[in-house]
Amino acid sequence: LEDPHFTTTDPNAFQILEHAAKLLSEDQVIAIPTETVYGLASNALSSEAVKKIYAAKNRPSDNPLIVHISSLKMLKSLLPNNSEIPSIYEPVIKKFWPGPLTILLPKSDLIPSEITCNQPTVAIRFPSHPIARALISTCGFPLAAPSANTSGRPSPTLASHVLTDLDKKIPLIIDGDQCNFGVESTVLDAIGSKDPLILRPGGVTYEALVKIPGFENLKVYNKDFVNKKYEITPTTPGMKYRHYSPDAEMLLVDVVGNKVMNIIDREIQNFKNKTIGILITQQNAKLSDNIQTIFMNGPLKCSSVSENPMKSNQNILQYILGDSLQPKQIARELFKGLRYLDECKVDLIFVEGISEEEEGLAVMNRLRKAATKIIYE
Ligand code: TXA
Ligand code: MG
Repeated sequence: LEDPHFTTTDPNAFQILEHAAKLLSEDQVIAIPTETVYGLASNALSSEAVKKIYAAKNRPSDNPLIVHISSLKMLKSLLPNNSEIPSIYEPVIKKFWPGPLTILLPKSDLIPSEITCNQPTVAIRFPSHPIARALISTCGFPLAAPSANTSGRPSPTLASHVLTDLDKKIPLIIDGDQCNFGVESTVLDAIGSKDPLILRPGGVTYEALVKIPGFENLKVYNKDFVNKKYEITPTTPGMKYRHYSPDAEMLLVDVVGNKVMNIIDREIQNFKNKTIGILITQQNAKLSDNIQTIFMNGPLKCSSVSENPMKSNQNILQYILGDSLQPKQIARELFKGLRYLDECKVDLIFVEGISEEEEGLAVMNRLRKAATKIIYE
C-alpha cells in the first residue's frame, strides 16, 4: 500500500481493501465510510461505473457527483491540460485537506459527463477517513461518491443505514463505524463568480473559511441570496421534492431557545392517537413518565413504539441529539436520530431548530430541506 496514513490491527483489513479495489476496477459500485457520511463509490474515470451509482440510489440524472482523490498528484492529473490548481484554493487546500471540504475546479475531458451533468466544473474532495484514503490509493484512480442513501432519504452515518437502503443492490459495504462529522462536506465554489460561495454548508464551517486570505467576502448560497425565512415550505408532504427526509412527516420547530417544548406540547394536541418522535437537544429535553427517552449514542435497534405501550395514551419517543452549545455533536447525531425514529415507525417527527453558528448552519440547511412543515413560533 502506498498510503502511509493507514494503520490497522485488523488482520483482514488489507484483504478487504484489495477485494474492494478489485470490485471497483471491474466498474462495480460499493459503499465506503468517509469522515462525513458513507459514500456510494465507483471509478470516477469510467462512465459505465458512474451510471451504476445513479441507478443504485435512484438519483436524478441532473445532480452532479463529487470526485474523491487521495493525493494532490492525483488531483493534478485530473485538471485540464497544463492547468494549475487555481491559486485562490491554495490556502484552503493547505488548511482543510484532507477533510470535509469539496471544491469546484475546471473539468477536463478525463471526467465523464455523467459526473458533472454537463457543467464546466467538477467537484473534488480529498477525504481524511483512513479507509477511504487507503482505498483510493490502492485503486490508483479517483472515486465518484455521492452519499450512500436512496435519493431523498437521510444520509447514512452507519453501515447499517446503507444496508437498510441498498441491501442486494451493491456487492459490498465496508463498515467503518459511525462517521465522525455526520453531515456532508462543505461544497465551495471560488471560481464561479466574484466572491467565493458556499454552495452547501457542511463539515468545514463558514467561520473557519471566512478567516482564510481571499475568502473575506465569502457568501452562503440561499442564506445570502434568498431573503428571510428561506424558501416557503409546503404544508402538505409530497408537494415538493424532499431531501434528507425520514419516512415520517417532519415538523421543524425553528425557534432557538427554551420555548421549544412548549410549542411541541401545543402542536402535539393536533395529533391525538399518533406516535410522535422528538429530536431535541439535551437543554430542552423533558424528562417525564409519558415520554420514552433515548440518549445519543444509545441502542441502535428499536422495537416499534406502539409495541411499547406507555403510561399515557399517546406514545412519545424523544431522542436527545446532544448539547445545543456543541453543534458538532448535533451534526454527528442528526441523520442517525432521524433514521432511528423512522425505524421506530413513529407517525410524526418534531425536530428542534438550533442556532446557525458553526456546524449549526449545515444542520439547519439539512433540516429545512427535510421538513414537511416549519413552525416559526
Ligand atoms: O461529504 C460528502 O460530500 C459526501 C461523501 C460521500 O464524500 N458526498 C456527498 O455527495 O455528499 P452528494 O452527491 O450527496 O452531494 C454532492 C453535492 C450536491 O449538492 C451536488 O449538487 C454538488 O455536490 N455538486 C457536485 N458537483 C457539482 C458541480 N460541478 N457544481 C455544483 N455543485 C456540484
Ligand atoms: Mg447526498
